[in-house]
Amino acid sequence: MSDSEPNAESGPDIDPDGEPTPVPIADPELGADARTRVEALLADGRLADGPEVRRFEAEFAAYCNADEAVATANGTAALHATLEAIGLEEGDAVITSPFSFVASANAIRLAGGKPVFADIDPETYTLAPAEVERVLGERDDIVGILPVHLYGLPAAMPALCDLAAEHDLFVVEDACQAHGAKIDGRRVGQFGDAACFSFYPTKNMTSGEGGMIVTDRDDIADRAASYVDHGRQADGTDGYDHAALGHNYRMTSIAAAIGRAQLERLPEFNRARRENAAYYDERLADLPLETPTEPAGTRHVYHQYTIRTAERDALKATLSERDVGTGIYYETPIHRQPAYETVSTAAARLPRAERAAQEVLSVPVHPGLSKRDRRTVVETVRDHFATQ
Ligand SMILES: Cc1ncc(COP(=O)(O)O)c(C=O)c1O
Repeated sequence: MSDSEPNAESGPDIDPDGEPTPVPIADPELGADARTRVEALLADGRLADGPEVRRFEAEFAAYCNADEAVATANGTAALHATLEAIGLEEGDAVITSPFSFVASANAIRLAGGKPVFADIDPETYTLAPAEVERVLGERDDIVGILPVHLYGLPAAMPALCDLAAEHDLFVVEDACQAHGAKIDGRRVGQFGDAACFSFYPTKNMTSGEGGMIVTDRDDIADRAASYVDHGRQADGTDGYDHAALGHNYRMTSIAAAIGRAQLERLPEFNRARRENAAYYDERLADLPLETPTEPAGTRHVYHQYTIRTAERDALKATLSERDVGTGIYYETPIHRQPAYETVSTAAARLPRAERAAQEVLSVPVHPGLSKRDRRTVVETVRDHFATQ
């Protein structure tokens, strides 16, 4: 963890001697700048799609070092529109992670495809390249890979992209939890044919609801921009020329105004998350639990700080007694969800994902944590193990 300071005690600590207050698992921070920008927009009156959305797209593309960006109503819409733009066809099989929010696999189904799950690496919780390779050896109907950068840690993109090149597959990065994460100095969003982000309020930056597709491929950007606007033809005659089937997945200008203000603060937010993570890493290292890993060359942005222990449920209860919010991401792997019962590719046993689902617990790591909040989290976890 190179650019953080494990001993740093920064952050607000308004009442250091008072009673510990509840520590929420997420606490989105919308500053005065976001308010000012929204007020300006309300005065302007162009509330739906408009120039503010174009500005957000340009700024987000620049942040990701991508040629193009297409704003969407949310991250799920970004994933769905991207797969439609890539030209996924009925029954096309796409490899993805079983250990993610259900939207990753839902997007494949919404675009007519078949999600095929490959197991995860038990340390990074992201798609294991060896498992992807095994699936590719067993099936000849795979057309793409949709890796998920889970909890803010990039998936093993170099190895996955090598496999994709070898088998002539597309790659769509699900970067919904990883704004600003890097591999070898390159931000996520630059590895696949396209990448998708979410701006849901708990994410590293928010726009209320919102999403973004980034890509260097003009064809994907053009088709996705059309798909999110009912297949509208950019050069149509009267604004009502619809070249293809599409959806209303457009971002609002209000969301874009919030998103632009948040993007400016993303580096500061990610630094605070990394500093909080470093604080926990150091103070939980000697306990019988696993702290998050950050493989060499990667920059984790700690959308979640997820620890792993066989006594997950008891630890969660202890934290809850002290009003420390926690989250289990995810208690049911996607292939075990009721909505996937009828999906034949969900029948596989994926032991690493299934075990992780029983043992992971995320504790608050967001930028709004005070020094006292962090101490409360550490002391509660330590007390829990001291009394075992
Ligand atoms: C990994 C992942 N993929 C996709 C999504 C979908 O994003 P949204 O909630 O903005 O539709 C999320 C959001 O929670 C996510 O975490």
